Amino acid sequence: MLYKKFVAFLLAVVVPLILLSCENKTLKFADVDSARLLNAAATPAEWLSYGGTYDEQRHSALDQINISNVSQLGVAWTYDLATARGVESTPLVVDGVMYVTSAWSIVYALDAKTGQELWVYDPGVDKAVGAKACCDVVNRGVAVWKGMIYVGVIDGRLEALDAETGTLIWSKVTVDQSKPYTITGAPRVVKGNVLIGNGGAELGVRGYLSAYAADNGDLVWRFYTVPNPNKQPDGAVSDDALREVGNLTWGDEGAWTTDGGGGTVWDSIVYDNVNDNIIFGVGNGSPWNRDIRDTGKGDNLFLSSIVAVDATTGIYKWHFQTTPGDNWDYTATQTIILADLPLGEDGAARRVAMQAPKNGFFYVLDATSGDFISGNAFVPQNWAEGLDENGRPIEKPEARYSATPYMQNPGALGAHNWQPMAFNPDLGLAYIPAQEIPDFYAKDENFGERLQNWNTGTNLVAGLPINLDLATAMALRATLKGRLIAWDPSTQTPRWTVEHSNAWNGGVLSTAGGIVFQGRLEGEFAAYNAATGEKLWSRDVKSGAASGPGTYAIDGEQYITITTGWGSAYALAGGSAYDQPVPPIVGKVVTFKLNGKADIPDPQLVLPPRNPKTAQFGDNALIETGFNLYHYNCRVCHGPLAISSGVLPDLRWSETTADAVAWQTIVLGGALAGNGMVAFDNVLSEDDAEAIRAYVVKQAHEGAALEAEAAALMATDAAAM
Ligand code: HEC
Repeated sequence: MLYKKFVAFLLAVVVPLILLSCENKTLKFADVDSARLLNAAATPAEWLSYGGTYDEQRHSALDQINISNVSQLGVAWTYDLATARGVESTPLVVDGVMYVTSAWSIVYALDAKTGQELWVYDPGVDKAVGAKACCDVVNRGVAVWKGMIYVGVIDGRLEALDAETGTLIWSKVTVDQSKPYTITGAPRVVKGNVLIGNGGAELGVRGYLSAYAADNGDLVWRFYTVPNPNKQPDGAVSDDALREVGNLTWGDEGAWTTDGGGGTVWDSIVYDNVNDNIIFGVGNGSPWNRDIRDTGKGDNLFLSSIVAVDATTGIYKWHFQTTPGDNWDYTATQTIILADLPLGEDGAARRVAMQAPKNGFFYVLDATSGDFISGNAFVPQNWAEGLDENGRPIEKPEARYSATPYMQNPGALGAHNWQPMAFNPDLGLAYIPAQEIPDFYAKDENFGERLQNWNTGTNLVAGLPINLDLATAMALRATLKGRLIAWDPSTQTPRWTVEHSNAWNGGVLSTAGGIVFQGRLEGEFAAYNAATGEKLWSRDVKSGAASGPGTYAIDGEQYITITTGWGSAYALAGGSAYDQPVPPIVGKVVTFKLNGKADIPDPQLVLPPRNPKTAQFGDNALIETGFNLYHYNCRVCHGPLAISSGVLPDLRWSETTADAVAWQTIVLGGALAGNGMVAFDNVLSEDDAEAIRAYVVKQAHEGAALEAEAAALMATDAAAM
């Protein structure tokens, strides 16, 4: 009897009390649910997800900072991110707290008003994983949901942290860690699932997007973007789509059957709540060269595509392929923006998805069906004559390169890369951080022989001069251009363009104050009139400023924020050869407000002496062997032509070049493996290592002479002015 009374008491009083307290429990930190995320555009004081809202327009309704007062913008605070590697993170701001990431997937919680540190979470990545990262050990940010912070870790983990303390709640390995997978992208949370993709297609992996339950990390569904190697089902939600669509576009032979095929989902993921779809961008083929990848020469779906799936189940809805049979690393992972454009009958609103992918064409698609509405080139390009009525590129035959190099624009770094694009819905303009970085493409006749790093099926020395002279260096430099383009997606034409002096510019923020904010890798952070492109304000942030800026408000005051740092794909593997190298610079969060009076501390510059450390040695044959081996094995980290941008050591000035034994201890023996300089003894012999040293030493001597020549030229120019 007593027992029954006790149970009745439990049921009647205690249980409802517990339930009630659960329901009413308001979290102090990151108390974010679907309602808040869906309403994000109407609550611009916060920045709740990577692109600001589910539509990822990166447009804020805040207008306290506007065209008439932006000239008074000053630094409110800075915070040191303690890394000299690349920083690409967009900070989230929730309930007064900023959650931001740095290189090596380290997460920081800061007081968003003062920059004061609340906690730091370091996932403790083994630095040897850096060898798997095609494009630096960057991270683009976190997601928030019901008191938890989610981060994708560079080694393939997805982790949930307590938003208040930064303590680890759950951790899942989302990839086969024996393969060269990495994660650099920001997770998104949709309907209680954390969505995360991965990268690695330069080295050879099979791409997919996964949904994990936000509360406990259970895998809910996984969508593979390319077929299983034997075209059998995976037991995954993508099985039907691959059987009915994807598999038919792949042959049965080629490197894809062993290398994974690529198609990684490494950046854009948006939620179209109107159609209840998740729309994501899919990356390039692995290897890049389609002839080597798939002897069947098919379109290779869903490479380089925009794919829509049901937001709850992950079941395929539609796809649009930007680059059929990708052959050039033309990813379609770039920013996807959802918007209503007046493209319906009599100017009625039509819901669209927009993207400016690497291939240089701006696409407007029907968000409901994926139908192609319109497309046009936003940079000069020489790989296609244009698009046909279905949006399929009309390829130029030369673009399907042979062993003879073809200089193509865009190159593999793309006409637009990860730097976020923005859209101002009031003006109907998209703001593209566009770039012209042509590349030489040629078939790699020795594919498969050297396998530790990039494995693209293209000749990685195509077009590169074995001997360096100033005229060639300057000619190469002159081919690189960056610009900010205000693009009218309704007419597919540019409204205005700002030309930059460096190709690799920064992500964009649009605000209702009529401003577009954009940084640049050289360190300038600027505000432009959103309607005209007139520059209204700028500030040197003393480090690379390529990340997507954000904005928020606290106590009635608007802030503009950006993460800075020096690194990323361009600095490591790309344009460094043609730029002035800079020393390592520590990344920061730099936050501005009207009349802010704080300073940005000067970077601590430690430049190694730029002189050869030993005499030249080796005959031409040895140097040519070294030139080839260097570009296949070392270029992606130490820079083309052995000229580093400063993120990783410039080998030309390294003391180890003077000592063959010390050189081999590092290069073959892995003496610095714990710092990310992995051993190459599985792909290189002692003779190979010595050939690379001979080439690097030659570059040191030529480089020192070239710098003297360039300095003299600049002095003459200055005297003439
Ligand atoms: C995946 C990136 C990566 C690749 C590829 C790579 N390195 Fe490195 N390397 C590093 C990193 C990171 C360091 C800095 C290690 C440290 O700080 O201790 C480094 C340092 C070095 C150093 C020491 C330089 C000094 O004076 O401090 C040498 C020598 C070197 N690398 C040679 C090579 C050679 C030769 C190759 C090609 C066979 C190569 N590396 C390929 C990442 C790479």
